[in-house]
Amino acid sequence: MSQPEYQTIAQAADVPTNGSKLVVVDGRELLICSSRDEIHVVENKCSHQDQPLDGGRVRNGYIFCPVHGMRFKLATGEAIGQLTRVPLCVFDSRIVGGEVQVRLEAPAS
Ligand code: FES
Repeated sequence: MSQPEYQTIAQAADVPTNGSKLVVVDGRELLICSSRDEIHVVENKCSHQDQPLDGGRVRNGYIFCPVHGMRFKLATGEAIGQLTRVPLCVFDSRIVGGEVQVRLEAPAS
């Protein structure tokens, strides 16, 4: 099966530094996070209890879940804390011409 194409989901300038921007793509909520001059795109769903990560603090390459405070590494989704070891869903993303582009995996069949 071929790889899905990258698609533009936002302008990089619209993502606040040390912050995040929520977008909905194909019915999925994606959280674009900006930290350390890098952009990462994760699913807006905490791997602990599936709560939204939107509004969580973004610092030094991590996002903190606003519900119970778990910390996740934005680059890999790695969970840091006692509540879960399940990583966040992180999407392959890139910046092209000031646009944030993401490659969503094909729907599970
Ligand atoms: S729902 Fe995110 S840490 Fe519990």
